[in-house]
Amino acid sequence: MPSLQQIRTALDGSGQAHVLRFWPELGSEQQEEFLRELAQLDLPRLEEHCRAAAEAAAAASCAPDRDLEPNLEPVPPESMGSVRRSDPDCLAGWEREGFLQISRSRVAVLLLAGGQGTRLGVRYPKGMFDVGLPSGKTLYQIQAERILKIQQLAESRLGSKCTVPWYIMTSEFTLKPTQTFFQDNAHFGLQPSNIVMFEQRMIPAVTFDGKVILEGKGKIAMAPDGNGGLYQALEDNGVLEDMEARGVEFVHVYCVDNILVKMADPLFVGFCVAKGADCGAKVVEKAHPAEPVGVVCRVGGVPQVVEYSEIRPETARLRGSAGELVYSAGNICNHFFTRSFLQDVVETFKDQLKPHVALKKVPFVDSCGNQVKPSEPNGIKMEKFVFDVFPFSRRLVVLEVQREDEFSPLKNADGAPSDTPATARNALLAQHCRWAAAAGAALLDEQGNSIQMLPSSSAENHPALKYEISPLVSYFGEGLELLKGKTIRTPFILDGAAAAELQA
Ligand code: UD1
Repeated sequence: MPSLQQIRTALDGSGQAHVLRFWPELGSEQQEEFLRELAQLDLPRLEEHCRAAAEAAAAASCAPDRDLEPNLEPVPPESMGSVRRSDPDCLAGWEREGFLQISRSRVAVLLLAGGQGTRLGVRYPKGMFDVGLPSGKTLYQIQAERILKIQQLAESRLGSKCTVPWYIMTSEFTLKPTQTFFQDNAHFGLQPSNIVMFEQRMIPAVTFDGKVILEGKGKIAMAPDGNGGLYQALEDNGVLEDMEARGVEFVHVYCVDNILVKMADPLFVGFCVAKGADCGAKVVEKAHPAEPVGVVCRVGGVPQVVEYSEIRPETARLRGSAGELVYSAGNICNHFFTRSFLQDVVETFKDQLKPHVALKKVPFVDSCGNQVKPSEPNGIKMEKFVFDVFPFSRRLVVLEVQREDEFSPLKNADGAPSDTPATARNALLAQHCRWAAAAGAALLDEQGNSIQMLPSSSAENHPALKYEISPLVSYFGEGLELLKGKTIRTPFILDGAAAAELQA
């Protein structure tokens, strides 16, 4: 660890001497802790980081990226697949391919869980959130059980025991609570050795004039380096070597907050493998032009995601001759990568990823040592995005899936108009009712009235449904023959015990 003197010299040399302004006022324990934090900074690159952040923020505020919009095009049809428009044989073929790869233990899932969940407003990792399902399951538990189930399905289809390892990228904020939560819950039935948690880097927030922000007298305002910090984190933690040792060739990367996520989705994996792709993205049709989802498209002929914060509203509103949105391929943060592509990124491309600028309200201590909570943005956070490696892909394919089956993210606290615990919960419960109805069950609500579920019925039609199917019973609506001809009154949880009773 560098000494205080070495750190002081480096800070002085990069115009950041103010960071140690309150050093003499700190107690010895605080000093020790602060020193440890400072030692983790990338001191040789600090000056460059601060200057680049200030310059990027200044450039962003006077002109959006001028080169971007004229060069924008939708994804060409030859790179697209669609669950709605493909015939059932074709879908079954992709799914078979995916199951084959899973059964050979060649598929891993990788969760991006280093975010701070600021919009949801909880102080613990989002995966630990309970959206209020009848079972009380958290997002982490649902995901873990889907892994257990997909392993089991692949085993029973192809007759070979297999493992889908779960890689979880955390940050300083989320690592410890996530580890403790998994331990306290016996890893939800998964083998602990098949869950690999690793940490992404943190970088300092910077003022508009390029100064590191002090959050406390002995604490720098640090934030994770964005979900595109993945590639540095893969290298820092030897994750690709671990994948290679396990024989993993394909990785399904996803974000923590989508309650409907299909872990290691055999159809998506099979689609990407069958198309010979090194990168893949799942999309849903955008709900409306201002929906906060990135758009998968091409810029100057190269595949890319243009983030919702970076597309102009007038471009997002463009419509084609049939009234459809021109840029409608909404990114749901579900990506496919081959391990060899990730290896190329780590070895060759990751330093070319350009950070994106976010202007944020960052609490700080002023020069007199007073705590200030700004009401206007005062700080710059630089983030890399996970999809910014798409331009390096040799073959990127895009699969459009049905929103009501696969996308209901938890972003905001209840009370917000969209993407809340209530909307996530209702989306899952409506899906389970559709599955039960399709399997031939008659459903009654709490008053005993019959619930009419159509294949297109959504949570909005049935906000009060309380019919939940455990992922350990069904991964995506399969295996529900036991419901045929049964009448079920909600609330009802179809778990292993209830299934056994129904079959008895
Ligand atoms: C993300 C996508 C957006 C997509 C939307 C769909 C990115 C950059 N943007 O936006 O295109 O339409 O999801 O819901 O992917 N995370 C980290 N480390 C970080 C920051 C975030 O691991 O430093 C993780 C979060 O824990 C989360 C995921 O990345 O699991 C997405 O982050 P979030 O900030 O929620 O992304 P959105 O802005 O919603």
